[in-house]
Amino acid sequence: MIEGIGIGLPRELAQIALGQTNEFPGFLELAPENWMGVKGRWGRILEILVERYPITCHALSLSLGGQEPLDWNFLCATKLFLKRHRIDMFSDHLASCRSGNYPYDLSPLSFDHATAQRVVSRIRYVQNFLERRIAIEPISYLASSKSQMDESTFICNVLEEANCDLVLDLTSVYVNAHNHSYDPKEFITSLPLERVVSIHIGGHEGQEFKVNSRGSPIGQEVLDLFSWTIGRLPAVPVVLEREYNFLPYTSLMEEMRGLQAICDQRWEALSVQTI
Ligand SMILES: [Fe+2]
Repeated sequence: MIEGIGIGLPRELAQIALGQTNEFPGFLELAPENWMGVKGRWGRILEILVERYPITCHALSLSLGGQEPLDWNFLCATKLFLKRHRIDMFSDHLASCRSGNYPYDLSPLSFDHATAQRVVSRIRYVQNFLERRIAIEPISYLASSKSQMDESTFICNVLEEANCDLVLDLTSVYVNAHNHSYDPKEFITSLPLERVVSIHIGGHEGQEFKVNSRGSPIGQEVLDLFSWTIGRLPAVPVVLEREYNFLPYTSLMEEMRGLQAICDQRWEALSVQTI
């Protein structure tokens, strides 16, 4: 079972992770698109990391909300990748992704009944094909498109109908709540928290409009939201997301230590309450 504090692993961080002998990261989260079919030096690095760390997979390009047919080649390659590396936890985004784009361009969905139905049937198809439950991660967005329901109702409907799990990105929740003027705690409370299998957290930027940029240390407001949220959840794995500005690595270790300390405090308090 995956637990503790992990880190999202762009290739730039892979070699740094190879050199670690510390307690962090507790696991690595890979975007399969970046690691499928790698050979030579990168293939060897992947083998060593898989041997050394528990691994989760967080994909970018399934396009669960897209209108175009699911990418059959990517699905087949994903199934092989998960099996080969014995990876249990797999997630992608509640978004559409324009195929062939790199870096992957995730677009928000309209919160309407037709879109919910389409996403549900695509998630069901993927779960059947991969022979496992998957998790979906709602994304941050600046412009909200025409909607028939609020975001939380949309997410709840999709989770329920598809019977899948949830990756809760607290930085996305924080920036969405700021940009669209709602209360992040009310939003989180409205979600089926029993479906949360993983938390994402990372740095954000911006003043008037905020962006989940994953390129800086976690902001204090997001850390406060993290502390509040995990007090309402059983122990789940936590992923620190950083996509650039990696160095010094010791500062990432510090952030992971900080997250671990909050988890220890909150989850210990919960276990004492239930005795
Ligand atoms: Fe995330």
